[in-house]
Amino acid sequence: LGRYIHFEEEVTSTQTIAQKLAYEGAKEGTLVVAEQQIAGRGRMARNWFSPKGTGIWMSLILRPPIPPQKAPHLTLLTAVAIAQAIQDVTGLVPDIKWPNDILINGKKCVGILTELQAEPDRIHSVIIGMGINVNQTVEQFPEDIRAIATSLAIEKGEKIKRAELVQEILFKIEMLYRQYLQHGFRPIKLLWEGYAISIGKEITARTLSGTLRGMALGITDEGVLMLEDADGNIHYI
Ligand code: BTN
Repeated sequence: LGRYIHFEEEVTSTQTIAQKLAYEGAKEGTLVVAEQQIAGRGRMARNWFSPKGTGIWMSLILRPPIPPQKAPHLTLLTAVAIAQAIQDVTGLVPDIKWPNDILINGKKCVGILTELQAEPDRIHSVIIGMGINVNQTVEQFPEDIRAIATSLAIEKGEKIKRAELVQEILFKIEMLYRQYLQHGFRPIKLLWEGYAISIGKEITARTLSGTLRGMALGITDEGVLMLEDADGNIHYI
């Protein structure tokens, strides 16, 4: 993976560029990396703050031979790969908060956004967008997210080499992706659960239609969260 790299100084969003490249037939493993995004996108139609030169803003194109319903597997796989890479490169100990936020000391430093080009039974491409706050100082975060966001450098107390981290992330994704295609989701699920802080806890999950509160029981083999509400009903989200 990452053998075909498109590096850009400034883009609206690496997702948009990767989508276009995927549509035009770009090979699996094509990576779009940018120094700065002026319209970085987050989940649930939120913005993703992506200032110049401080973070890793990138989108990876995969073309997995799996049905679209299984696409969540790849998001969870990516979260595990990034958590492992952060741990190896920085020594920090990351947690994963459902579905795929990576937190250090309770604050978010990584977000993942997965977008699909698919037919009902076949995936054309999956674009995995990764936003990693690497070298921002506290002052470089907008005030309204300072209480909930952090960077690896803030938590580690020193700057981190972005190139080294990108390399390690791609290496880990590649290893886990191979393992996934050979052995299925189970091994990834076990790794994911090892990092997850939400399981066994009362959480509020956001869905496109609102919020749901309940106890996170775990994830299914499909990569879907099981949530038990106060009435004992189980929701799959
Ligand atoms: C989230 O809301 O937690 C997901 C954030 C994903 C941000 C990354 S940065 C690279 C890629 N390009 C985007 O516009 N978004 C993703």
